[in-house]
Amino acid sequence: MPADRPDVLVTAPLPPFLYDPLKADYRCQDYHLASDKPALLAAQGARVRGLVQGGGTATPTSLLDALPKLEIISVFGVGYDGVPVAYCKARGIKVTNTPDVLTDDVADVALGLILMTGRGFVRLNRFAQAREWEKRAPELTTKLAGRKVGILGLGRIGKAIAQRVTAMGMKVAYTGRKKQDVPYEYLRDLKALAAAVDFLVVACPGGEATKNIVDAAVLAALGKKGTLINIARGSIVDERALVAALEAGTIKGAGLDVFADEPRIPVELFAMENVVLLPHVGSATRETRQAMGDLCKANLDAWFSGKGVLTLIPELS
Ligand code: 8YV
Repeated sequence: MPADRPDVLVTAPLPPFLYDPLKADYRCQDYHLASDKPALLAAQGARVRGLVQGGGTATPTSLLDALPKLEIISVFGVGYDGVPVAYCKARGIKVTNTPDVLTDDVADVALGLILMTGRGFVRLNRFAQAREWEKRAPELTTKLAGRKVGILGLGRIGKAIAQRVTAMGMKVAYTGRKKQDVPYEYLRDLKALAAAVDFLVVACPGGEATKNIVDAAVLAALGKKGTLINIARGSIVDERALVAALEAGTIKGAGLDVFADEPRIPVELFAMENVVLLPHVGSATRETRQAMGDLCKANLDAWFSGKGVLTLIPELS
């Protein structure tokens, strides 16, 4: 192994199409697999110059304290809520993510969840598979054209969701830190947005600033007419309040791709006919994961060849 390959700490399982090329160019340390993590850090920590993690991986500052030469964290994902950004800024550590390449796929999942919950497609699929149709007519569901979709967080993914539902004849409103130059209704207050819409779609970043902002009061405002869709981070929704609202029937349903404690899903949700569950597959297509892997490595390559990074997170730009 040539000594000049930079040492990279890998803190999450990576797909082979990223890990194999990474191992060819870097001296990778499998932190996530190490049975004795403190020993690995004691032996190798001082050499580590790069770190690769997944979108949802939490990176504690105590780990970064053990990597005095760390220059860059390259996140395999668009979300970097697991990265202590203020700490990295103070230490001058670059943080990169994989924006844009996954936008379409994640927006597709939001649209899918709107269709699956609104039109009852998952229930109806079970109905057909169980040959219930031979005995009775299928249920009637909800017309989507004309209904209003409220988007919490009108970033790249939120805008791609807005485009898709607009094409279906649905109306769009949004909330976020500021009003944007877009042809959609802006509501500053999240509760007011929830009250005004049929589908509330969570599409903002996770992290401390958005922790549990979709709480019992927002769900009460969404009300019996409303369905919650979450393709962002489980941490944004108070999951206990969501389960309670679904159990009490105070919201219409939920379509969820993300959860607070993945891969664990609150057991109460499994038996609910008005809930559609997906195992965090927003970006999970071969094409997109490959593009994310390429960008994740390209950021390291650019940095270690002295060209700067390609997709620095906005807080550090
Ligand atoms: C991935 C994600 O599942 O991009 C993100 O932030 O949550 C997902 O696309 C994850 O990052 C893979 O590590």
